[in-house]
Amino acid sequence: MTASFPALRLRRTRSAPWSRALHAETLLTPADLIWPLFISEGKGVEEPIASLPGVSRWSVDGIVARAKEARDLGITCIALFPNTPPALRTERGEEALNPDNLMCRAIRALKDHVPEVGVLTDVALDPYTAHGHDGLVDDAGYVVNDTTSDLLVAQALNQAQAGADIIAPSDMMDGRVGAIRAALEGDGHVNVQIMAYAAKYASAFYGPFRDAVGSRGLLKGDKKTYQMDYANAEEALREVAADLSEGADSVMVKPGLPYLDIVRRVKERFEVPVFAYQVSGEYAMIEAAAAAGAGDRDALVLETLMAFKRAGCTGVLTYHAVHAARLLHG
Ligand code: PBG
Repeated sequence: MTASFPALRLRRTRSAPWSRALHAETLLTPADLIWPLFISEGKGVEEPIASLPGVSRWSVDGIVARAKEARDLGITCIALFPNTPPALRTERGEEALNPDNLMCRAIRALKDHVPEVGVLTDVALDPYTAHGHDGLVDDAGYVVNDTTSDLLVAQALNQAQAGADIIAPSDMMDGRVGAIRAALEGDGHVNVQIMAYAAKYASAFYGPFRDAVGSRGLLKGDKKTYQMDYANAEEALREVAADLSEGADSVMVKPGLPYLDIVRRVKERFEVPVFAYQVSGEYAMIEAAAAAGAGDRDALVLETLMAFKRAGCTGVLTYHAVHAARLLHG
């Protein structure tokens, strides 16, 4: 039985900062954050991304420097996305399998210079295809599942051989988690993890990301035959169940903030590590709101990230990772 007013005054524990800190139910720390980074060719290169204010693409040397910065702030893991030069983009995205592609060079440099930071690599063909889709496209424009999956397995192995710690398939093909797990085991990568983009929705929030990897202008049509319909939640649970049964170590929900209901349902149903991706459009929205004077940037960043933790996330992929970590260090 709980007391009632005035014995019960819920404001009592909120009445001083020390008491609010003592009663906080959720903790947000830099170790909860995964920082996505965009890689570009060259040396000493920084290319700001107009639709993602404050975010740049970096050449491999810059990626290493960013990883050290992240490590020094207590961030545990970074996620890599390459901006493949246009001349190397093909119908079948073969550059994804090149052991010396931009992604693999970045992974090796990171593992040479900052081995203590986890490296998460995205598995999907969109940074490598001339049409901007995550897989192979047939004559009717359909993204074909099974032959795409074969290529994704080869892409994942290529990343693991370069030293990737977490393989993160973001392509939404059916059956690819099991195929990748089997290939990793067969090639001796027993401790390379799989974080499955399990519930990834066809979303309007990915626009700035597509600018960052250079696929926005290339993309023909949309991704609705493979990414999920945002009307659906039960289907997300089936996606998660499938990826877990195939060997995913953790699952991801994406986008983030508009999908916290999915995070909570996944966490309650499966009791596994759940991550959310606060995607490029969400980042851009916060930056735009702050620039327009509609809210305080620092406060918006911390409130949104805490919301992910409160909903049940183990961690969050966010472009605000370094900024948030600085704020958390005070
Ligand atoms: C590629 C991929 C996308 C994102 C992560 N991996 C874009 C897409 O599916 O079109 C989006 C991330 C973001 O918007 O920050 N498969």
